[in-house]
Amino acid sequence: MFKAYPHYQKAFPSLAKIPLSELATSKLMIAHANTVMYSLTSVIDNLSDPECLQEMLQKIGENHGRRKTGQQPFLDLKGVFIQLLQDKLGKQMTPQTIVAWGKTVDVMYAGIFKGMDITSEDD
Ligand code: HEM
Repeated sequence: MFKAYPHYQKAFPSLAKIPLSELATSKLMIAHANTVMYSLTSVIDNLSDPECLQEMLQKIGENHGRRKTGQQPFLDLKGVFIQLLQDKLGKQMTPQTIVAWGKTVDVMYAGIFKGMDITSEDD
């Protein structure tokens, strides 16, 4: 993500000053990536509980809305994330799988953006 959109790195106070070449091995970066991945894992673990899922997505949106990230970095992340899956999974990422992941991310973002709207209304 930071390679494709270097300006987003500045949004992360703890990561802003780490050179791109050192990010992948930085413990701060790894700690942050773990937090995000645990959060994504709980979203996936709760796919069968739509109400809980909605609450979790909304909460992620509220937290990011308070930081004023806006929707654009999430939309950019969608492209980077799907490209990453294609790079890692190769032929297993069939055209149908790509479409399915796109729809999954759109559903996640609908919940996240709803939460973002709530916090931006607080201002
Ligand atoms: C689905 C995608 C994402 C998930 C699941 C996610 C999840 C998280 C979690 C769990 C945290 C730490 C807990 C918290 O403080 O809220 C966090 C922090 C943060 N996220 Fe995200 N995030 C996502 C996308 C993004 C995007 C696209 C941006 C914008 C560039 C962003 C910016 C931030 C910032 C600035 C922090 C605070 C970091 C710090 O304090 O060092 N996030 N995110």
